[in-house]
Amino acid sequence: MRVLGIETSCDETAASIVGRDGDGAPMILSDVIWSQIGEHAAFGGVVPEIAARAHLSALDRVIVAAFADADIDLRSVDALAVTTGPGLAGGLLVGAMMAKALAMSLGKPLMPVNHLEAHALTARLTGEVDYPYLNLLVSGGHTQIICVKGLGRYERWATTIDDALGEAFDKTAKLLGLAFPGGPAVEAAAAEGDPQRFRFPRPLKGRGTMNFSFSGLKTAVRIEAERLAILRGSDVADICAGFQQAVCEIMVDRADQAMRRFEAQYGRASNNALVAAGGVAANSQLRNSLKELCQRYDWRFVAPPLRLCGDNAAMIAWAGLERLEAGFASDSNPPVRSRWPLDEHVEPAFGHGKRGAKA
Ligand code: KG4
Ligand code: ZN
Repeated sequence: MRVLGIETSCDETAASIVGRDGDGAPMILSDVIWSQIGEHAAFGGVVPEIAARAHLSALDRVIVAAFADADIDLRSVDALAVTTGPGLAGGLLVGAMMAKALAMSLGKPLMPVNHLEAHALTARLTGEVDYPYLNLLVSGGHTQIICVKGLGRYERWATTIDDALGEAFDKTAKLLGLAFPGGPAVEAAAAEGDPQRFRFPRPLKGRGTMNFSFSGLKTAVRIEAERLAILRGSDVADICAGFQQAVCEIMVDRADQAMRRFEAQYGRASNNALVAAGGVAANSQLRNSLKELCQRYDWRFVAPPLRLCGDNAAMIAWAGLERLEAGFASDSNPPVRSRWPLDEHVEPAFGHGKRGAKA
């Protein structure tokens, strides 16, 4: 089976064709990602209206490029998959309309895909894990620990009560005058800095919760930067190193709790795996900290290749393919959902602002 995946939920316009090789192993035939970062850089963040327009003008060319790279004809895909949430509504609509029109004209099934599920399943596309496993999703919009029990069976064990981790990186970078997106800029600066010079807080550590909070850390960085008034010499590098050190300790603390809960539920097995996903999983200090933690527990630490950590359409095509093969129903006219939690049953985290809640 070959599936065309389309991703337009944030600031990457992407199309990819994924299938299986002769032995049944997953195979990426093409993976085209057109990043809009340049269009948003001046604003220090993603501007939804600009994103939607940019998707509209780029998507057809990105899809054509995906077929050209795969060297196959439009009609030779068996199905289509598209991100229908969560994400920015304008972008989601552009992708969904394109996918519906293509599926209809080709007479092929269309599988709506949850972007978070696609991140969580990426490590299966790279052929590395079997269910169940633990997924640490760290991106610009989400920071979650998900117990992936099986396809379509997700338990959210932790989430952020304020900023997402990627957002904390981006805001820290902005505050220090570094480039957008902030993650790679903070990581590069931190590599030259002294992580001991500033001791930033580790919010919620030791409070017996698995949830995350980053706004206090961000505020502490701001206060330190304001205290210094003029940042000179190694100030920026040292702040970034201190920030990243705090982040890594926080993530290890929460992952540690999750791994203990997982072992209590599923036992201690040599193939237990902690799977990192999302753009922040590209951070090498974070990867190394989590790898060390896994070694202590004799777990496998799995982090997809950098290109597949950030937003891409190969993960969308793969999630669609897994769902189709498992017999999940396709939908020729799926709605888009700007909010779409993976675990529909979980209570909102305490302190998390519930949008749309009745007073
Ligand atoms: O998953 P992603 O590409 O997009 C979504 O948010 O869905 O994640 C983007 C986030 C941005 O906040 C970016 O600053 C962060 O990932 N990021 C990083 C690194 N590379 C990207 N954060 C820390 N270190 C990095 N090397
Ligand atoms: Zn993402």
